[in-house]
Amino acid sequence: MERNARPGEQPGVPADAQREHELVVVIDFGAQYAQLIARRVRELGVYSEIMPYSTPLAKLVARRPKAIILSGGPSSVYDEGAPRYDPGLFRAGIPVLGICYGMQLMSYLLGGDVRRAAKREYGPARLRLEPGADAVGGLLAGFGEGTRCWMSHGDSVLRLPDGFRALASTDNTPFAAAGDPERRLYGVQFHPEVAHTERGTELLRNFLYNIAGCRGDWTIAGYIDQAVARVRAQVGDGEAICGLSGGVDSSVAAALVARAIGDRLTCIFVDHGLLRKGEAAQVVETFGRTLGMRLVHVDASERFLGKLAGVTDPERKRKIIGEEFIRVFEEEAAKIGRAEYLVQGTIYPDVVESGTATAATIKSHHNVGGLPADMRLKLVEPLRELFKDEVRKVGAELGLPEELVWRHPFPGPGLAIRCLGEVTADRLAILREADAIFIEEIRKAGLYREIWQAFAVLTDARSVGVMGDERTYGYTVALRAVTSQDAMTADWARIPPDVLSTCANRIVNEVPHVNRVVYDITSKPPATIEWE
Ligand code: XMP
Repeated sequence: MERNARPGEQPGVPADAQREHELVVVIDFGAQYAQLIARRVRELGVYSEIMPYSTPLAKLVARRPKAIILSGGPSSVYDEGAPRYDPGLFRAGIPVLGICYGMQLMSYLLGGDVRRAAKREYGPARLRLEPGADAVGGLLAGFGEGTRCWMSHGDSVLRLPDGFRALASTDNTPFAAAGDPERRLYGVQFHPEVAHTERGTELLRNFLYNIAGCRGDWTIAGYIDQAVARVRAQVGDGEAICGLSGGVDSSVAAALVARAIGDRLTCIFVDHGLLRKGEAAQVVETFGRTLGMRLVHVDASERFLGKLAGVTDPERKRKIIGEEFIRVFEEEAAKIGRAEYLVQGTIYPDVVESGTATAATIKSHHNVGGLPADMRLKLVEPLRELFKDEVRKVGAELGLPEELVWRHPFPGPGLAIRCLGEVTADRLAILREADAIFIEEIRKAGLYREIWQAFAVLTDARSVGVMGDERTYGYTVALRAVTSQDAMTADWARIPPDVLSTCANRIVNEVPHVNRVVYDITSKPPATIEWE
């Protein structure tokens, strides 16, 4: 299977189906925020891609970017092995905006001076504009005095390269913004991409539209048309299959491909019996009935439960489910027989991160649809260029129900890894009910969307309680809700105590065998989001 096409290019798709749109490249120097920069640019209507700093200049220029943004990064330009870039970039006639390390590197490569600042600057700072600065190229157009910006740096530019003008400073940073309008090269020491920078979005908009002359041709409707055309060109009159999980990514990928090739797409929904309450029924309803797509619903719950009988080790659960999933999928795919294409809901962060695989396996992730390469099917990945928020917009535009489009992420192994200890039908039923109550109350409180993920865990701890006049000896349910940007780090959600109290009351009263509810207040790290 081909996996190496760049995100904006579908493998095996003729070039004429790959209509060009404006492109802004973010060169990644190891920043925490590279993806955030690209997302912000796209929110401003311009397509943006991230490329590693090792990308050769010729390859970069060949993509004809309208502008280039150099990201921040943890290094100091004088460090041995610090990431650099070919200075020819600044002679290519392409507007460049350097952010933090990106600004320092640009200054250094063009003959300026960068030093370790006397004081590390981290957090909010007030920006002071130089006289007339807002007129220079328009980068700071609309900025008033004392705008708040967000700093995070140890080094600073102490002398600007020839041709550059100071545009703004802060108490600790003499050149907080600078630029050479002639060459259209600009740098900011602060982070315009983070929400804490008051006018960050405006700065990026000014750069894209005033300086780089972008028109803004990146829209969701335009993307759908383009993606549909590409899928048609790639699949021709062939047939495709798709593993549907009920999650956002595979659902949107399937709906998009169905729009392109209609019933030459067959979705295989392997119901492993480890889904949340009402989830299987919703998948069948949405895809089978509402969208009228060709759907094979395989109820394999007994088969999975049989394999999981007596298994308590988290890694073994994950392995068993992953392997069994592939087996069931292959059996069903063989029955369909004709398909040469496999639709997957790979999204842009997966593409970016696959280049930087993590060192240690904390948990072996099983992705529904993450099928083996030896299936000899060609991949169709219509969401390879999209961030999660864009995937949701595409889903909504394609008519998927809001509940599905906004659903919290759910792990491939499903409730099995939220049912600590043995996974049995009875224990899953308890977990499903408790989870449904928790989610219902979070929705009622209007908190569902601001929470990254919320769920119940059925622990294997039992404790003594009293109900009526009776002693009980029941299960402890743990509630977990986190806020996060990307699941790499997470904090526990500050759900109001009243809401938690309602959840606890309802769960112990409505769900048999549960007599205690606890709320998990650990962050990730050191904990993980899931319990197993
Ligand atoms: P952890 O528990 O590692 O989870 O902090 C991070 C995110 O990944 C989800 N998760 C999975 N997703 N297959 C998936 O598709 C898996 O095996 C899996 N395990 C964890 C988890 O729900 C969270 O969003």
